[in-house]
Amino acid sequence: MRSFSPHLAARALWQMRVKRRPFVLSHGINAACNLRCRFCEYWRKPGTQMSTPEIFSMLDDARSFGIGVYNAWTLEPLLRRDLPEILRHAKRLGLVTSLITNGLLLRQRAHELEDLDLLSVSVDGTTSYRELRGADLEEVLEGIRAARDEGHEVLMNCVISQKNVSELEELVHLAESLGAWISFEPIHESQGIDDAVWDEIGIRDTFAYERAVEDLMERKRRGAPIINSLTYLEMIKSRRPRFRCHASDIILHVSPSGIIENCRVHQEPLGMVSDGISRVWDATLKKRKGISQSCKGCLFFGYVENSLLYEFVPEVMAHYEWM
Ligand SMILES: C[S@@+](CC[C@H](N)C(=O)[O-])C[C@H]1O[C@@H](n2cnc3c(N)ncnc32)[C@H](O)[C@@H]1O
Repeated sequence: MRSFSPHLAARALWQMRVKRRPFVLSHGINAACNLRCRFCEYWRKPGTQMSTPEIFSMLDDARSFGIGVYNAWTLEPLLRRDLPEILRHAKRLGLVTSLITNGLLLRQRAHELEDLDLLSVSVDGTTSYRELRGADLEEVLEGIRAARDEGHEVLMNCVISQKNVSELEELVHLAESLGAWISFEPIHESQGIDDAVWDEIGIRDTFAYERAVEDLMERKRRGAPIINSLTYLEMIKSRRPRFRCHASDIILHVSPSGIIENCRVHQEPLGMVSDGISRVWDATLKKRKGISQSCKGCLFFGYVENSLLYEFVPEVMAHYEWM
């Protein structure tokens, strides 16, 4: 499933524009990862994770709050044995379910994901994959094939860095050959990671980067399965965030230990899910506003594209192909 049904779109509009509450619950479902990606901050600070009953109760509360989409992501959701039960619980509540994974365990577990609607697999390069992620790309591709065989639509999610900037065309071809969609976003130079890492893998050859993004735009125009809107690709080409961020108006961000945070960039704690989502939400309006007003912006595609959708930007409504 790639796009909102009219019914879901109406629910989303009601929740976000009338009730002024987020529609997506993005949940750090577990506290461990099987990779040590150099550009990722999450595995560096492992902590605790909620139990299955705690997650069920959060989902029940989220549904009453008006959440319509449940996204399971950090650190690596396929490491969680009870993932199928959690997805089933969300599905029974009428939520659309979504998963972001590194895909290493997908071959073994694709058959367990019958309650999953949207599957994103991170594929940040071809030749550079091993250097960036320390794993074997072929294992991930086998996982994607297994998921396709189970009937899943797959989105390959690529973070553009200095290491893979010359591989983007090849990645688009790879997505085409797998019958998958593909998204791109530039690497975010998180503060918690050493500058030496960013000097090595951050985007430094801006000429090559801009040409590569222009090439993606051209391919998108010619029908390649790139989900990003042209507005977004133009924005990342200049690497200047030019949009009003609505991340926290759209997405409720919950950490593995149950802390409600503003967003993945400002992991500012707002409260605990165990305190009740609506209570935390209502008590933090001022704080959330303050964070978004002082934020210089980021280019995470989920935040940018959804913020532009929130403002009904026509090109994004016509060309952004995921939810
Ligand atoms: C944090 S991971 C968690 C889910 C799963 N382990 C995975 O690898 O997809 C989610 C996404 O964040 C991306 N990511 C991690 N660090 C990033 C960074 N510094 N800049 C941009 N994206 C990043 C990953 O590439 C991945 O697509």
